[in-house]
Amino acid sequence: MDPGFKVFAPASVANVACGYDILGFALDKPGDEIIARTSNTPGLRITKITGSQKKLPYEVEKNTAGFAALKLLEHLGEEKRGVEMEIHKKMPFGSGLGSSAASAAGAVMAINELMGRPLTKRELLPFAVLGEQVADGSYHADNVAPSLLGGMIFIRDNASLDVHRLPFIRGLRVAVVYPHIEILTRDSRNILSDQVTLNNTIQQTGNLGGLIVGLYNGNFDLISRSLNDVIIEPQRAQLIPHFYQVKEAALKEGAMGCSISGAGPSIFALCHNSLEAENAGQAMQKTFIDNGIECDLFLSSINQEGAFLC
Ligand code: HSE
Repeated sequence: MDPGFKVFAPASVANVACGYDILGFALDKPGDEIIARTSNTPGLRITKITGSQKKLPYEVEKNTAGFAALKLLEHLGEEKRGVEMEIHKKMPFGSGLGSSAASAAGAVMAINELMGRPLTKRELLPFAVLGEQVADGSYHADNVAPSLLGGMIFIRDNASLDVHRLPFIRGLRVAVVYPHIEILTRDSRNILSDQVTLNNTIQQTGNLGGLIVGLYNGNFDLISRSLNDVIIEPQRAQLIPHFYQVKEAALKEGAMGCSISGAGPSIFALCHNSLEAENAGQAMQKTFIDNGIECDLFLSSINQEGAFLC
């Protein structure tokens, strides 16, 4: 049998406090693995899904990885080609770590390899975003783009996928805690008010600009002052028990900033170095555990590579 290609696509932290739907960065781990190989049966089929507590659909059109792969095959005029795909979920679903995005990113990269790599990673992005859209109904690339391309990504406009990689600062580390509560992105989006005050808009755009300038200049204090979300976090914090206590624990350890990862319930802290990330991570994890909530801790750099062939 054709062994095919296996791709690892990493988890990601979307929003990064002040960039709802327009900022995200990739983590080293966890992540999903996607295998694509040729088959004698015409058409795309999902033949295996492992590692998901939730029953994910085998129907290609209903599956984030399947739909992304299908759209790419259609674009390449290869939708009749026999292709089978395996999805190995290695990260929690509904965690705020971009699980569906990682599957979609991994799928398009694995299919692209199988087809002889006709497209660049950047050209694969629209197909992966279409896959992610199956999960929550909206077209945003703040998880998919970093998972596929790596780095910290700023999206000026989601519709046209005007995406830009922000500078890498050596030494920056991230602690992410995942409390074992499931929040569906769709639900977490639905609670948001579509009204934003002028004052909050001014503050949030100031923070977004500050974060970007801080990354370009390597100005940690500016990054730290800018990692504040005055619009989304106050609305979503209620979904995560003890959120403010956990945030306080990270900031007490010196973290540059701490906020909800994507739609939650995971919480990330951006840190000056790995020791601070360990201390902040352990303090956040302990706060959840002391409150009777099981919780995993992930320590990571900002992964510059994104999805890769393994
Ligand atoms: N920007 C998205 C949100 C990320 O916060 O809803 C999760 O898909």
